[in-house]
Amino acid sequence: MKHIFKKGTDPNKPTLLLLHGTGGTEHDLLPLAELVEPESSVLSVRGNILENGMPRFFRRLAEGVFDEEDLIFRTRELKDFLDESAKKYEFDRNNIVAIGYSNGANIAASILFHYEDGLRGAILHHPMVPRRGIDLPNLKRLPVFIAAGKNDPICPLQESQELKGLLENAGAAVHMHWENYGHQLTRTEVEAAANWFQQNFAK
Ligand code: MLT
Repeated sequence: MKHIFKKGTDPNKPTLLLLHGTGGTEHDLLPLAELVEPESSVLSVRGNILENGMPRFFRRLAEGVFDEEDLIFRTRELKDFLDESAKKYEFDRNNIVAIGYSNGANIAASILFHYEDGLRGAILHHPMVPRRGIDLPNLKRLPVFIAAGKNDPICPLQESQELKGLLENAGAAVHMHWENYGHQLTRTEVEAAANWFQQNFAK
């Protein structure tokens, strides 16, 4: 997968996996990694799907209607890419925290839905429920930060609450951050995510 890897100054800090929104690239979220933990290594990935020229991490049939078969395939592809990258760049595979926005948050959530040790933690900006009707793996107190908008036309408030409930039922420790706005990524939610990260992952 097309990506950027930046080696951090502290190998004990989690590697930050950056996953952009629809139409984004691997460059978009680099400033977030700086705010969350400047000493961490960063693996920023571009989605392999193109929708009318816009990169994405998996196909959709319509706005908010996911191509489930492709979602499962692409989730596996990303997980395999993390396994390979950890070997290639020599970082700890068991110490990856994802930071995803929108479509990127959805594929990060999909890794949590499908793989027991896929991630060590996740910051999800405006995620949706990636799949319904499946049993989640045991998430064993895995820390998850969700930022959601109370007036998000793409992800209604109830869907954000549903995602929180599904992850908590699987054992995750979910912190919910609400914004009064819509689907946009705000400065305040990024700062809240950075505080949460320091509380959960500072050594
Ligand atoms: C998705 O397709 O993953 C969601 O609708 C969010 C987005 O527009 O990227």
